Amino acid sequence: MALSWKHPIKDLLHGGDYNPEQWSPDVWREDIRLMKKARINCVSIGIFSWSHLEPEEGRYDFAWMDELIGLLSSNGIASVLATPSGARPPWLSQRYPEVLRVNDQGIRNLYGQRHNHCLTSPVYREKVAAINRRLAERYGANDSVILWHISNEFSGECHCDLCQSAFRDWLRRRYGTLDALNAAWWTSFWSHRYTDWNQIDAPSSRGDRVHGQNLAWQRFVTDQTVNFFNAEVAALREFDTKTPVTTNFMGAFPGLDYVEFARHLDIVSWDSYPRWHSDPHSDAAIGAETSFTHDLTRCLKRDQPFLLMESTPSQVNWQQVNKLKRPGMHQLSSLQAIAHGSDSVQYFQWRKSRGSCEKFHGAVVDHCGHENTRTFRDVTQLGETLAQLSQLPGSLVPARAAVIYDWNNRWAIDAYYGLRQDKKNYFEEVLQYYRGLWDLSISTDCVDESASLDRYQLVVAPMLYLLKPGMAEKLEAFVQRGGTLITSALTGLVDQDDLVFAGGAPGPLRKLLGLWVEETDALYDHDTVVVRPLKGLPSLQGEFAAREICERVHLETAVPLAVYGSQFYAGEPCLSENRFGQGSAYHVACRVEAKFTHALLRDIAARIGLQSNWSLPLPEGVNVQKRASAQGEFYFAMNFNPREVTLPAPAFPLRDELSGQPVTGPLSLPSYGVTVLRRD
Ligand code: GLA
Ligand code: ZN
Repeated sequence: MALSWKHPIKDLLHGGDYNPEQWSPDVWREDIRLMKKARINCVSIGIFSWSHLEPEEGRYDFAWMDELIGLLSSNGIASVLATPSGARPPWLSQRYPEVLRVNDQGIRNLYGQRHNHCLTSPVYREKVAAINRRLAERYGANDSVILWHISNEFSGECHCDLCQSAFRDWLRRRYGTLDALNAAWWTSFWSHRYTDWNQIDAPSSRGDRVHGQNLAWQRFVTDQTVNFFNAEVAALREFDTKTPVTTNFMGAFPGLDYVEFARHLDIVSWDSYPRWHSDPHSDAAIGAETSFTHDLTRCLKRDQPFLLMESTPSQVNWQQVNKLKRPGMHQLSSLQAIAHGSDSVQYFQWRKSRGSCEKFHGAVVDHCGHENTRTFRDVTQLGETLAQLSQLPGSLVPARAAVIYDWNNRWAIDAYYGLRQDKKNYFEEVLQYYRGLWDLSISTDCVDESASLDRYQLVVAPMLYLLKPGMAEKLEAFVQRGGTLITSALTGLVDQDDLVFAGGAPGPLRKLLGLWVEETDALYDHDTVVVRPLKGLPSLQGEFAAREICERVHLETAVPLAVYGSQFYAGEPCLSENRFGQGSAYHVACRVEAKFTHALLRDIAARIGLQSNWSLPLPEGVNVQKRASAQGEFYFAMNFNPREVTLPAPAFPLRDELSGQPVTGPLSLPSYGVTVLRRD
């Protein structure tokens, strides 16, 4: 059961990473003045404070932290308190080299960077638990500490002997016997039959990358990271059972299965750094991708808000080109997070450091040290807006459509050899379908294969290559009851261990899709194949281009809706519908241009009465999201274009939540404009 806030902060949170250990207490006082001015009500502290909290092994110094938390709290600013395990003091690695990570070449790293430790090491766990206990003992009951921020952006893997042996234990638990493992990993291939658990290592470019092993290792890395996280939390819980816990995720980061991880969090949070303005024509693609990632993060706990833990108030420093946010974009990108269910806008970072590698990363307070900057004014304006949106916290995003994005599926796709070696484009394929719904402003959940589908009218499952046990049955039941399913090429190829289904694709989905796949063509980047819609779908007119992957399918109970128009397979079906129970399953047998998938989604949405959040058609690059609670429905109309647009009049009367003005006719939004409207 997830813990909820223990602090009476009723407002949306506004603040960010604060690193006061880089500054003297007189600067802290100036920070407080500036924070109040910018309407900051919450900061994250202690993330990289270990060497200040424990300057020598076993000698702790909390005096400065006491003063800091007191100062913040007496000024009405809450703290998100981090455990410091994300970066270690030098004494720790010097004394206990086992805490240093070993890479896949078997080489132990030197001290440095951050997130550079072995998550199995008993010494590291013990040292982390020791400091966590003290933090919890000292601050756990403090009402102004509202949330534990466990470590920072967990990532990476370690190949040391301790981790290898933990991996073997994990394999024993998962497979029970070597026979079962040998069968699951198909080790008869290339004479790989294991006769001793100790013959098995983590995947390495110097050794093996057997598919089953690869998948098992990635699952192990998630489990071991979660296990480390849980050990951190257990140490806190010895003294504090009330304060909720989170850790900051990184969107669709492929290294950890966040769905598994999130089960152990009270509140989900993430760090969002979109490449705004990287496309010369429009920010719509970046807007849609960011929207997807917010939805993906929210759906890690579908029925509660999430937190935007980090974002930049201006620019970052680690992208190839670190562009400033254009006027309007700060308000737009921040309210976009709120629109998708975030109850906070937090930044990295409050004050720009003077030294080391993040000294040119954007911050609320720049090196000039005062508030007379564009960024500070943007942040202040947002702070005022957030304070006005006091009805928002706790409200949810009701969605009747879902797109499936699954980490295990991604791992298996990334690993296979065949068809096209690179540019497998799973993420891009998911985004393409998601974008079709985004253009229609249909609220969408992004869930993995484990999610219940009961609440949806439409489920889009692009490139669902790996089917977990029970997935086919779940999709069947969903369609049987009247749901609509869309699948795309490369669906239903392998089982949970990455073994190809006997009988070929789409494996156990054959009955539901009403077809089987005979062979799959892979195309060069310069190849296209014509796609010709048949009658029946009004938006699908003319010809379209398939690229990259074309399946040759045989329809059994499905009927064709489009056929290939070129190649030796011209005339064969490439879009089909299979009526199944009360619903329908559509299969798009090729990877096809967005114009086609968007039109298909538009027609299917119209067919099944899936509601847009606004009257259609909307101008390109405009998106409307909705949050709802007992206080009403809140509509966020967002313009990702660098020019003014006009939206058609809404289907029902709305009121501008910020100005109080009613909106009945067409609605104008300025360049990168955003507005929040309420329907009572
Ligand atoms: C991540 C980290 C922060 C900081 C930012 C910079 O999100 O958690 O500590 O390095 O990136 O963008
Ligand atoms: Zn290790």
